[in-house]
Amino acid sequence: MDSNKRPDTMARITTKELAEAFIDEQIKAVREQVGDKKVLLALSGGVDSSVVAALLIKAIGKQLVCVHVNHGLMRKGESENVIEVFRNRLDANLVYVDATDRFLGKLENVSDPEQKRKIIGAEFINVFDEESAKLDGISFLAQGTIYPDILESIKQAEGKKAVKSHHNVGGLPEDMEMSLVEPIKLLFKDEVRVVGEALGLPHEMVYRQPFPGPGLGVRCLGAITRDRLHALREADAILREEFDKAGLAGKVWQYFVVVPDMKSVGVKDDSRYEGWPAIIRAVNTTDAMTATIEELPYSVLHKITARITNEVPGINRVLYDITPKPTGTIEWE
Ligand code: XMP
Repeated sequence: MDSNKRPDTMARITTKELAEAFIDEQIKAVREQVGDKKVLLALSGGVDSSVVAALLIKAIGKQLVCVHVNHGLMRKGESENVIEVFRNRLDANLVYVDATDRFLGKLENVSDPEQKRKIIGAEFINVFDEESAKLDGISFLAQGTIYPDILESIKQAEGKKAVKSHHNVGGLPEDMEMSLVEPIKLLFKDEVRVVGEALGLPHEMVYRQPFPGPGLGVRCLGAITRDRLHALREADAILREEFDKAGLAGKVWQYFVVVPDMKSVGVKDDSRYEGWPAIIRAVNTTDAMTATIEELPYSVLHKITARITNEVPGINRVLYDITPKPTGTIEWE
């Protein structure tokens, strides 16, 4: 039987009970596959890698080594949250690597979006390789592959063209000599979330909005600078906070801030104040191939605008992107 094909008889995991049965089954399968050997996992903090980590911690405890690479393009508080949940609460064997300077160094003066994606993907592999070389006796590599990834690679093998290269930071070297452990590869995203909750992961982690592998790197448009990246991270945190307060967080599929590499003239404290605009994007979609925009209430937009322009150094305007996909892609790069 092709282990990459979801059997027609497999029930859709929609309840806690079904999720628990799946977890028990996978715990047995993983223990059988791994024995007393060690398993390595790149833990980004995204839903898929987090669910795999929680599942493997249950199955093999400290035989799992998680490596979290902070590429300096994470959202505010994200890496701290990974450490809090996995190291402090779940007692995981977690290696934390702050590679911010390396990534930002490589990205200096690079403005082409695809080039940026390539650099981030390649540097991730370099850092991950170096970290895994420091570890002894690792025999397996765990991955948060899910069923849509498998379906997508079949489509690509059939020669269909992608609009963007969609580098997933989890994409790992082909020449790695480790066998793969992929416990959720037959699950759809909604099932992964049900399993994540059954494993006791925090709701915000399991239901968090999608976040691209290259992170804020493709939202800090053009050549990334530290000051503009900082402004983007702060503005994005304010947007997320206000979405939470307005009860929009679980309702809108993806929402974020983009900061372009241009300034406009503004005024602050009676003086000329040149700053970047913060562009707000809030979209709904089912498969990310097309998207509609969320019609945000003006009261929320006013609040966000006031907070971002007052609280974030370097930003003097807030714009709201109402372009659906097509013609705009969801991300700006
Ligand atoms: P676009 O911008 O192509 O985005 O309409 C569709 C979805 O994919 C996400 N996205 C990425 N995800 N690596 C990823 O893992 C990437 O390079 C990447 N680029 C876009 C985007 O956030 C949206 O959810």
